[in-house]
Amino acid sequence: MRDNYLEEFYSFLRFPSVSTDEKFAGKVQDCAQWLSQKLSTIGLESKVVATAGHPVVWARNKHEKGRRTVLIYGHYDVQPPDPLELWDSPPFEPVLKNGYVFARGATDNKGQILSHILGIQETLQKDGDLPVNVDLVIEGEEEIGSANLGKFLTDNREALKCDVVMVSDTGMIAPRTPTLSYGLRGVAALEIKVTGPAMDLHSGIFGGAVANPATALAQLLATLHDREGRVAVQGFYDDVAPLQDWERESWKKLPVDADAELLKETRAKSLFGEAGFSTLERIWARPTAEINGIGGGYQGQGTKTVLPSHAMAKLTFRLVPNQKASVIIDLVKKHLQKNLPQGVTLEMKGGHDGPWYLTDPNSEFGKAAQRALRKAFNKDAALIREGGSIPIVSDFRNILGVETLLLGLALSDCRAHSPNENFPLENLDAGIRMNQAVLQELAG
Ligand code: BES
Ligand code: MN
Repeated sequence: MRDNYLEEFYSFLRFPSVSTDEKFAGKVQDCAQWLSQKLSTIGLESKVVATAGHPVVWARNKHEKGRRTVLIYGHYDVQPPDPLELWDSPPFEPVLKNGYVFARGATDNKGQILSHILGIQETLQKDGDLPVNVDLVIEGEEEIGSANLGKFLTDNREALKCDVVMVSDTGMIAPRTPTLSYGLRGVAALEIKVTGPAMDLHSGIFGGAVANPATALAQLLATLHDREGRVAVQGFYDDVAPLQDWERESWKKLPVDADAELLKETRAKSLFGEAGFSTLERIWARPTAEINGIGGGYQGQGTKTVLPSHAMAKLTFRLVPNQKASVIIDLVKKHLQKNLPQGVTLEMKGGHDGPWYLTDPNSEFGKAAQRALRKAFNKDAALIREGGSIPIVSDFRNILGVETLLLGLALSDCRAHSPNENFPLENLDAGIRMNQAVLQELAG
């Protein structure tokens, strides 16, 4: 591994570019400046473009008429590192252990986008030019739903005209196995708050006579699912497109024992999910309702005999073709209002959302990507869908009119969003080769 690549990777990772927390806004900005500087140094024209939120870094080579144009998208923002005590080393002080770099953002998405930058850097050093026109759009708000990137695409629609988008922000089905993802789930968020008495009360003096909002919240949340793991919101599945037979068949043949792997990685006691579907089908092609956080009442040391005045929960729903976020959020709101226990009130606030994505892995560009993956990895590409979401991908289709190639480099044990996130240097190298092979194939 080239030493200066590692130093640059570390510099990139040292920025705590946490987009969701205002406290880090300055660091997000610094990270964008560093990135743009890096892109200029390798010979691209680069700028930091302000938005209503965190800035976009936009770089390009000199576009030549008659060449294909590829837009490479990624994000430099990261998830919060919490809970800090579960990290073996500090999240923003990258370390190398057994070939893996540990730091927040190592996989999601700094390592993956850096491999494209380094691939371009090497090609430019070697050939003085790229085989295609390239735009790199690297944003700072992916982890919070890309609220301002749609406007950036619309404002710059002409300049961003391209033939296809390439993104490395998804997974590989197994180590050293190239993977083309042709689907993403969507996501819709909802925050709810249940309120009872106007203030916290003595649970001995009032308990039994005043409804407890934490109890009410627990009861309410329990109505979201039935015992077989299905979402119990009326109409929730109405727009869900059934899985195609070819997908079910081909997913069975993928080189992975998903159940065994998930059990090992998560150390969960057993797997659980919607009856009638395999683990991969549940993750890639079925919608879910998740409680991401829940709170209320006394959380400090020891006991406090209190009847809390309110309790809250943060929910997200993973959506699949052809569900619509606004429709689902409406159905859920109605469901929660209808099932609200007596004696409390309910407030609900919708959050960010992002649509699902489904494309044809065997389109002209899909085929070119598969050829390039075979070249870079010496192995046939696995064709999969993904459980995660990349909200802007559907806008590439809607605003720019182009399809997206999802060429992921994350391994299933990379711990994205978790403590001890990591990225193998082997994948940084593979990403460099992949970038070069794909640009070559797309050039035609
Ligand atoms: N890289 C992920 C998306 C991803 C993860 C795709 C796993 C495929 C497999 C991305 O950075 C991400 O985490 N997206 C968020 C979007 C949300 C905050 C709007 C997600 O999926 O939760
Ligand atoms: Mn992420």
